[in-house]
Amino acid sequence: MCGIIGISSNKSVSASIISSLKKLEYRGYDSAGIATLFEGKIKEVKSEGRVDTLEQNFDLKNLKGNIGIGHVRWATHGVPNSVNAHPHSSDNVSIVHNGIIENSTILKKYLIKKGHVFKSQTDTEVIVHLITENLKTNELEEAITQTLKQLHGSFALGIVFKDIPDLIVGARRGSPLAVGYGPNENYLGSDSYALKSMTNKITYLEDGEFCIIKKDQVLFFNEDGTKINKKILELSSDDASYEKGDFKHFMAKEIEEQPNTVKTGIKEYVDKPNSEINIYNFPWKIDEINSITLIGCGTAYHSCLMAKYWFEELTQLDVSIDIASEFRYRKNRFKKDKLYIFVSQSGETADTYAALDLCKKNNMKTCAVVNVIESSIARDANFVLPIHCGPEIGVASTKAFLGQILILYILALKLGYLRNEINKEIYKEKIKDLQNLPGLIEKSLLVDNDIQAISSTFNEAKGSMFLGRGFSYPIALEGALKLKELSYVHAEGYPAGEMKHGPLALIEDGMPVVVLAPRDSYYKKTISNMQEVIARGAKVLLITNKSKDEIVSENIWETIEVENTNDDLLPFLLTIPLQKLAYYSALKKGYDIDKPRNLAKSVTVE
Ligand code: G6P
Repeated sequence: MCGIIGISSNKSVSASIISSLKKLEYRGYDSAGIATLFEGKIKEVKSEGRVDTLEQNFDLKNLKGNIGIGHVRWATHGVPNSVNAHPHSSDNVSIVHNGIIENSTILKKYLIKKGHVFKSQTDTEVIVHLITENLKTNELEEAITQTLKQLHGSFALGIVFKDIPDLIVGARRGSPLAVGYGPNENYLGSDSYALKSMTNKITYLEDGEFCIIKKDQVLFFNEDGTKINKKILELSSDDASYEKGDFKHFMAKEIEEQPNTVKTGIKEYVDKPNSEINIYNFPWKIDEINSITLIGCGTAYHSCLMAKYWFEELTQLDVSIDIASEFRYRKNRFKKDKLYIFVSQSGETADTYAALDLCKKNNMKTCAVVNVIESSIARDANFVLPIHCGPEIGVASTKAFLGQILILYILALKLGYLRNEINKEIYKEKIKDLQNLPGLIEKSLLVDNDIQAISSTFNEAKGSMFLGRGFSYPIALEGALKLKELSYVHAEGYPAGEMKHGPLALIEDGMPVVVLAPRDSYYKKTISNMQEVIARGAKVLLITNKSKDEIVSENIWETIEVENTNDDLLPFLLTIPLQKLAYYSALKKGYDIDKPRNLAKSVTVE
């Protein structure tokens, strides 16, 4: 993770660097720093904490220079403090880095022997000294090529040089990096979002490539140092989506946007008049796919689990799921007739990308379900299903989750129909129900008052549990994750039927337990499990759907009823109160909802 910005201009760059760094804070926010070149010197400022703190600590208006680099950090090597903050500099070179240098210990020993003095605990500092060393005997391009060859691990780099003061070098292996083009200035950014307010003309570096950025020229090179030409892409600009508007937090805005997320997804994939699902340009014949593996991290992994239930319900396909960081190192049996689906909001998560890369190297069929269509995962998969939910800024994923599960449901429905595993009548019926989903989500959002009152109990407790069976189990996991991420209270998601095999021992008087028990085929079983926790003193918040049938249970602490729809679609509605529960818990505690401690939105390190 971490965020990088670099600007080479004909005017002072510090103000633009600061405003880009503020945008990049979603990638990391434990320290920040800037280096500019001015009057033959590298000027470096850095501090622990947010960009606001950097602004308070230094007179950045007077940080002069027409060339500069900036960084926001999510610590990997070395605690978050001002010494370990980037940029890291020698007398001649200053660097910002995303990623991890795996052979930093060996390189450090070699460089210390050569007389280099290290100041920080970071792996990044070895790059500074290595380039400084290589520049002693090489011209710039050779020194860069040589340095990159000596580095093991992943990196996106922005580098400035005191003695070559008119340029910035950018280099990429494993961590994303983009170049932007402006009037009399050019840019380097860890993603296009950082550059969006300055340009919509972007080129993405591929692994192994590096670039030299001057105010009026950008040159690209491959890993051997040979010059290459690269395409300039034009991105659409939708600036309003990057603002909070009247909302207090991005998360609140993104939760409320969900009816629209689902409406847009349906519009993109469903032909309403003909009640038909359109997935254009699907590159494989239906009988070429006999099994599916879905891979993701965090919330995206929960989307994979949700999809497994739907694929198994609607198709006869063999479906497995995997956490990307596990998949990439396991001895996988790759199968030609398997479709590998990679689910990722950002499309940049390092583990998910590495899992995709592994499948590509084994010539597998790969499909990406992503939000950011310019991302590495989207660019490298054989086929992309965008979720079209607009920028998601809050670190805890909300609308992207609904967007992901929507597209995965639509895919499962279509494959089930094409494989003759669900009949036409059911297929059309389910498409019809889908059309009503945005309205139902809208109504299910009206639970603020109930949830606000309930949220204190979760904050005050030592811990809580979230239980569900079948379609509700992935949602229970996601609900627990949201509460953990935002309120820093222990929350455990569990299959309700599994409680008796251990976790029941945790239940004590007054412990809040969320039970997801919609009136689906699992309802009676889940209600029995709910009785088991009530009998042991749990304070149960039951979340179910509206029904004319009364709930046949006593001693339930609180009940929330979402709207009613077919069993497949209930998970969408059950998700809403859980997102709000996490939001209001964190709000009451006064925590930073959009930037929870220790986390980052885009995790580009493994
Ligand atoms: C981080 C975010 C999570 C997200 C996960 C996967 O941990 O904080 O909200 O679910 O990364 O991100 P992706 O972009 O691949 O969906």
